[in-house]
Amino acid sequence: PNRADFVVVANRLPVDLERLDDGTERWKHSPGGLVTALEPFLRARRGAWVGWPGVADIDVEPFADDGLQLHPVRLSAAEFAEYYEGFSNATLWPLYHDVVVPPVFDRSWWHAYQRVNRRFAEAAAEVSAEGATVWVQDYQLQLVPAMLRELRPDLRIGFFLHIPFPPVELFMQLPWRTEIVRGLLGADLVGFHRPGGAQNFLWLARRLAGFEPSRGQVGVRSRPGVVQVGDRTVRVGAFPISIASAELDRLARTKEIQQRVKSLRAELGNPRKILLGVDRLDYTKGIDVRLHAFHELLAEGKVKAEDVTMIQIATPSRERVEHYKQMREDIEREVGRINGEFGRVGHPAVHYLHTSVDRKDLVSFYCAADVMVVTPVRDGMNLVCKEYVACRHDLGGALVLSEFAGAAAELTSSFLVNPHNLDGVKDALLAALDIDEAEGRRRMRALRRQVLTHDVDRWARSFLEALGTPLAE
Ligand code: UDP
Ligand code: G6P
Repeated sequence: PNRADFVVVANRLPVDLERLDDGTERWKHSPGGLVTALEPFLRARRGAWVGWPGVADIDVEPFADDGLQLHPVRLSAAEFAEYYEGFSNATLWPLYHDVVVPPVFDRSWWHAYQRVNRRFAEAAAEVSAEGATVWVQDYQLQLVPAMLRELRPDLRIGFFLHIPFPPVELFMQLPWRTEIVRGLLGADLVGFHRPGGAQNFLWLARRLAGFEPSRGQVGVRSRPGVVQVGDRTVRVGAFPISIASAELDRLARTKEIQQRVKSLRAELGNPRKILLGVDRLDYTKGIDVRLHAFHELLAEGKVKAEDVTMIQIATPSRERVEHYKQMREDIEREVGRINGEFGRVGHPAVHYLHTSVDRKDLVSFYCAADVMVVTPVRDGMNLVCKEYVACRHDLGGALVLSEFAGAAAELTSSFLVNPHNLDGVKDALLAALDIDEAEGRRRMRALRRQVLTHDVDRWARSFLEALGTPLAE
């Protein structure tokens, strides 16, 4: 088989197999920001992608998909439960997101994580050509860099973490902290969204990874941006991810989208203002925060349901994991309360959609929204807010953004809020709803300057350049 010179390894393939009720199967776009960011770039490079096809207990042969070579990795139902739902999403996800909910430390989950990481490393080793560049993605696969290096010392290996890297005191809770740090140090370059994440990792590498009783002490030293592991140099840095801005800008300008925006507003009864939230249904996203803020504003009469309509798109995610179930119930109860108190027949105050919407619909929602509300209590980057900005070529709309999203460092002309401060969120919503046109345009222009000049292509290029495999123009 032809081996690839450029390989992405991620938990998910960019497409997800869906089994319909009638027993048929179809491929659909995978959820989440990682796929949004990497897919266009990798298609253009005609690379290979190693990942899980989204359904447990099935074997899928490698296949080509519009410029991409896809290499499915099989997960059993037990591995799905222990490696994916368990260790990845009930241990690492909450631990790395400021322990918003308590992480569960379970040894059998850890063993499954090791086993599955080895399988991904083996698959990557098999599809990579001599001297290829392999780019390993995200928290589900932190052991892969070191495992892959053992199998294939000839490869150039990069790793990028798409979620926040936690403060050291939190990371130190992890019983398998040393193994994770050593796993990551198998890469030639370890990338994070924020400089703080890179610094935390450098500290931990120095503190934890030098100790190797089975082989005697291996010297690990670090200086800014570099960890020296024996005679190998591992670079560490911050690479804030982004979106294909120009492409979204172009799509938002089309007649078709403008038409859809008109009919969307009409269907909503042409409200004076539309508030919009778009998130995976995840407890880190602060969906409850914006609902509570909206609820109080309505109750205090500061906002009238006749004037302002809220739309919340909540994409189903990790639905069997306990805290996700719980949060879904809480959010749906709150939506019901708001609509019960403030809705009228045919005019709910909150339109809640528990579904995923396709690209064109999403762009129409962005273009129709007067205020985009992004209030995560912690988010690695958050691409949704950048997408909103990229779509607003009309310089309309306003962005309310949590300080705790990675994007806040770049989108400083938004209305920045602390999602734990409900009064602050309410004030920001009111200010964004009532912003005068000139001020709104000034802010949006500044936001767009940032998002259009710092796109995902620039992100990928800077990462690969630091990895020592620069892209041709
Ligand atoms: N998205 C989508 N359909 C939806 C909701 C979201 O395609 O119904 C996409 C959205 O456009 C964005 C990604 O999912 O590209 C979410 O990325 P983000 O970084 O905001 O959050 P994540 O889900 O990765 O935590
Ligand atoms: C975030 C993570 C990705 C993940 C995505 C969707 O963006 O960083 O690694 O793929 O969420 O979550 P899921 O669990 O459905 O893959």
